[in-house]
Amino acid sequence: MRVLGIETSCDETAVAVYDSKKGLLSHALYSQVALHAEYGGVVPELASRDHVCKVIGLIEQAMTDSCSTPKDITGIAYTAGPGLVGALLVGATVGQSIGFAWGLPTVGVHHMEGHLLAPMLEPDPPAYPFVALLVSGGHTMLVNVASFGNYEVIGESVDDAVGEAFDKTAKLLGLGYPGGAALSVLAQRGDPKRFHFPRPMINRAGLEFSFSGLKTSAANHIVGKTLDEQTRADIARAFQDAAVETLVIKCRRALKLTGLKTLVVAGGVGANVVLREQLRQMVADEGGAVFFPRHEFCTDNGAMIAYVGCQRLLAGEHGDLAIKVSARWALDALSSFL
Ligand code: KG4
Ligand code: ZN
Repeated sequence: MRVLGIETSCDETAVAVYDSKKGLLSHALYSQVALHAEYGGVVPELASRDHVCKVIGLIEQAMTDSCSTPKDITGIAYTAGPGLVGALLVGATVGQSIGFAWGLPTVGVHHMEGHLLAPMLEPDPPAYPFVALLVSGGHTMLVNVASFGNYEVIGESVDDAVGEAFDKTAKLLGLGYPGGAALSVLAQRGDPKRFHFPRPMINRAGLEFSFSGLKTSAANHIVGKTLDEQTRADIARAFQDAAVETLVIKCRRALKLTGLKTLVVAGGVGANVVLREQLRQMVADEGGAVFFPRHEFCTDNGAMIAYVGCQRLLAGEHGDLAIKVSARWALDALSSFL
């Protein structure tokens, strides 16, 4: 089976071709970051309009790069949620239209399932079952993944997502938007001993997260102050250390509670090198293994959507002709294939 996957849930237009026998054949992406930067966040209407402008060109590019003609494609996958409704509708409409025109089955994919299974695109993929840490701009979740499609959310943020806290702190530090990656670069020059921010909710049992207190601690050191370069770096360092340590503690706890030894990390914050390093050490201590997608597949991409779509189509799932998307969609509501 060869699937064309389309991702338009937020501010990246991305397309890929995945083949069940040959693996990932091509992927193409256009980031709208520059378009939204001057507003300090994603403007939904601008996002939708830009997806309309870019999606067809990217489909042509992914088809050419994978040396595919329409006859080679056997299914279409598109992100059907969660995300911005207008943005999702662009990918869903284009995906359904191509499916109808080419006479192919289509499937709407859950964006977070895409992130969750992105490590499956690597040469040495994890085996089920595993615990997944999903850390993006909109979500912070621990998921018990029993098998493909069988997901139990075992911990979530009660307020801000960790990526959102990174982005808001970065914005206050004048690092632009989304500034998570820039904050981690600035943190490299920071003194780890100068400031200490709270590690939220680590003393409470369970796997819930909270990042708004940490964000406020950082904001209290920034807002209304004139900061020199070293102080900015020290604040970035203290913020990142607190966020990373919190995530590592909860991941260790999730492995212990589930009795599982494999951890999978996915989502944009999974690109953070300090988080990767500390999770590697923690999992090694626990005698387990940790799997990450390559950096470009941590953030939004079409490859993860084509991959999941291909697995779902192979399992016999496909949609009707309705163009349906959901801004909110619970991960544990997905159909499972045990
Ligand atoms: O998964 P993603 O591309 O989009 C969502 O679905 O949200 O994640 C984007 C998030 C942003 O908050 C961004 O600042 C963060 O991932 N991010 C990072 C790093 N690279 C991206 N956060 C911390 N360190 C990084 N290196
Ligand atoms: Zn995402």
